Amino acid sequence: MSSCGPAYQAPPVEKRWTALSKASIPQLQRGYVVHQEKCAKCHPYLNPANYGEADLIGDIMPAMSRKSKLDAADSAAVLAYVLAARKIPVPEPQR
Ligand code: HEC
Repeated sequence: MSSCGPAYQAPPVEKRWTALSKASIPQLQRGYVVHQEKCAKCHPYLNPANYGEADLIGDIMPAMSRKSKLDAADSAAVLAYVLAARKIPVPEPQR
């Protein structure tokens, strides 16, 4: 799969992500969908690998969940998604 857009798109969840997260695949998948529907309203996908795990858990994701008006279950799903996504390799930028 390839994309023509310059922006790094949120990576879709794959089965191998069970090795990256204690969350279930359905929960990670929910996090992906919520991310696409809510987070993308304000800014493009920001690679979570550029942020520390402790900052994401303690600071960034609580703030972004409030901005997105997520309920507790959706916040937990997006947090699990983001923490798993930050462990996968980032595609090279397209030239
Ligand atoms: C209402 C608009 C809005 C929504 C919705 C939103 N963001 Fe943001 N986001 C911002 C703004 C503005 C900033 C930069 C300033 C700040 O940190 O508040 C930002 C910054 C960030 C950063 C960088 C933080 C940093 O310290 O540099 C990340 C990562 C991020 N957002 C992820 C998300 C995720 C994941 C979601 C969905 C849960 C989300 N955002 C939803 C507006 C939004």
